Amino acid sequence: MEKVAVIGGGQMGSQIAALSAMSGHETSIFDSNKEYLDSKLVFTKENIENLVSKDLIKKESLDNFNQNLKVYDSLETVVDDKTFVIEAVVERFDVKKEIFTTISKKLDEDVVLATNSSFIAASEIAQHCKHPERFINMHFFYPPLRMDLIEISFPESTSKEVVDRTKELSELMGRTVVTLNKETPGFIVNRMLGALVDEAYELYDEGIADFKDIDLAIKKGLNHPLGPFELTDYSGLDISYYSKLKIYNETKNPKDKPKKFLEEKVKDGKLGVKTGEGFYNYDKPSKS
Ligand SMILES: NC(=O)c1ccc[n+]([C@@H]2O[C@H](COP(=O)([O-])OP(=O)(O)OC[C@H]3O[C@@H](n4cnc5c(N)ncnc54)[C@H](O)[C@@H]3O)[C@@H](O)[C@H]2O)c1
Repeated sequence: MEKVAVIGGGQMGSQIAALSAMSGHETSIFDSNKEYLDSKLVFTKENIENLVSKDLIKKESLDNFNQNLKVYDSLETVVDDKTFVIEAVVERFDVKKEIFTTISKKLDEDVVLATNSSFIAASEIAQHCKHPERFINMHFFYPPLRMDLIEISFPESTSKEVVDRTKELSELMGRTVVTLNKETPGFIVNRMLGALVDEAYELYDEGIADFKDIDLAIKKGLNHPLGPFELTDYSGLDISYYSKLKIYNETKNPKDKPKKFLEEKVKDGKLGVKTGEGFYNYDKPSKS
């Protein structure tokens, strides 16, 4: 059994840590914003209780969650004595690089270092760190408690043992694993979803339809459960903006430049459900 440390306890990290604890792993978590983390963990617990009450998961999972998950108040202590680190902090390369360079100096070389980043490849981070062969992308979906898939991706330098251990942990968490043969920004799902969202943004930017009508058209016309703007509100406008900006900085293709309306919302702190407003308004910031 791995001993798991999760760094970053926002929408994703809190539930990734929960999945780890629920599956019987000793799990630690740290977030630089303790208040945000606490609110996410309260919500996560309520969510697990709800799943237990509907018989969708066993009561044992809730007991494991209560027993196995511990909150730490520093980056240094959260990784102490751990064998597997999953990073789920804000989607910014500078922040992730700083965290991984710090912990890779301190941790034994056989500790797996996984990032849940949606667009930053393990190889980009690994090249700045000690023992690059232990780096891997372990990409969960929101909300991790309910979404079954984990995409695993890694550069050639990653060892087979690290890949096998990541698959094993994912499966113990009860998730289905898809393994990519090559690194690519966005992996499989977000690459395909990106094409849909890009086209939705383009239609809105050109004034062809209101975002609510675009969402409605996709839901009714393609039978998707959520429209592209609703989906962005749930995953976070900041994730959408920074991932697009990263691609644009690499390609300099004007087509990849994040749309002005998206940039303005992110600068105004309208990040979606988590802040109470994105494209749509929400009564109060959601804890989900
Ligand atoms: N939201 C999604 O749908 C989704 C899906 C898959 C992967 N991801 C990836 O998961 C990661 C987190 O996304 P999220 O949606 O949970 O965002 P979020 O904003 O809810 O959480 C990010 C957390 O990082 C914390 N943080 C920032 N700097 C930190 C530091 N130096 N040390 C410790 N904690 C720090 C913040 O306080 C916050 O709690 C991103 O890399 C994103 O690409 C997101």
